[in-house]
Amino acid sequence: MIEYVMAAKNGRTIPKEDKIFGISNRANAMIDEKGKDAVINATIGALLDDNGDLMVLSSIDETFRKLTPSEYAAYAPIAGIPAFRKAVVKAALGKYEPKGYVEAVATPGGTGSIRNTMSVYTEPGDTVLTSDWFWAPYRTIASEIGRKLDTFVFFNDERKFNIASFEEKVLELLEKQEHLVIILNTPAHNPTGYSLTIEDWEGVVAVLNKVPADKKVALLIDVAYIDFAGDEDEYRKFLPVLERLPNHVLPIIGYSASKTLTAYGMRCGAMICLAPTKEIASEFKSMGEFASRGSWSNCSKAGQSVMARIYADEELQARVTKERAEIRDMLLRRGKAFEEEAKKIGLVTVPFDAGFFVSIPCDDPDAVAAKLEEKGIFIVPLAKGVRVSVASVSEEKCKLLPAEIKKAIED
Ligand SMILES: Cc1ncc(COP(=O)(O)O)c(C=O)c1O
Repeated sequence: MIEYVMAAKNGRTIPKEDKIFGISNRANAMIDEKGKDAVINATIGALLDDNGDLMVLSSIDETFRKLTPSEYAAYAPIAGIPAFRKAVVKAALGKYEPKGYVEAVATPGGTGSIRNTMSVYTEPGDTVLTSDWFWAPYRTIASEIGRKLDTFVFFNDERKFNIASFEEKVLELLEKQEHLVIILNTPAHNPTGYSLTIEDWEGVVAVLNKVPADKKVALLIDVAYIDFAGDEDEYRKFLPVLERLPNHVLPIIGYSASKTLTAYGMRCGAMICLAPTKEIASEFKSMGEFASRGSWSNCSKAGQSVMARIYADEELQARVTKERAEIRDMLLRRGKAFEEEAKKIGLVTVPFDAGFFVSIPCDDPDAVAAKLEEKGIFIVPLAKGVRVSVASVSEEKCKLLPAEIKKAIED
């Protein structure tokens, strides 16, 4: 029987249930049936404590509860309230003092920055480029607005960033289209946990210096996990390298407060440009506002007000930073526990540095995930392997998982 489709296809595939939320629902159903101890739910992209409860920084919770009605109920300007636009630049760039012209436009989470960057800096039908291990919503966002997604091979045989594949794909796509958006999710990439090194960044900048002058590239650096990779200053050291990009390659930071403030549902984020000229920066702001107006209009004001309050109060800011360091250390311990155990038993992971996720390459990810589900272990099958969220399970469970995954792959 041919399925009746009411929705206009517009070149899109008609999706079934969201894979990750679907698996999570099955995990919750098993918890209801067999109890918490029978289930390891390593699918969730949020930091949970060892009991599986959401961790929210108390400093954020308190700041949120103190908001006045005008701080959460009034409309925010489309680009965001001025205090937020200033605060978010500090939050994203840390101690780095940019040389160029910086503009920030509020977006609903990091997702909004990805959507707006694609819509502003590509033509309908264009292809967006990212690595072959990638966060699946990149493709959803691209397809929803009539763009395609292509990938370069993330790692070479030496388990290093594959600069040759990156160069080949960038130049190949630019032969076919005038505009290109490139998304690099680093540090603590989802789904692998890889962070580009300074050497990797120098390679990227060298390649982008080969972009023909009549082409235009937006380099979107998706830093959703930047405050969970390790030392917050260390992981911002790539920013000065971007100063060596040519004027027709625009770096944009896709910032998300979801992880940084443990405020996933607040839908707070921003797109921030480090533009070489005032004109490009001002166009970035007006085009960002236009794209926002035509999709979600203005963003939720509460998150912006929380961020503005934090950056107006040094003591509060220090408290947020300290609290985050504590939960980050917990996350780093979990990642290390998984990594060390995997090494010990000979389970090969994709190069991992830090972050919410570890990925394991395998041949039939769906079958591996299904086998693990039978044992109450829920992970996410991807195209080239399976993804484990170390953010959502205890250190103890992180030590147990490698052996179970190895068994499921080899059986
Ligand atoms: C790679 C990556 N980018 C961006 C985001 C954006 O998240 P949000 O829109 O919730 O801020 C996420 C969230 O899971 C992510 O994993």
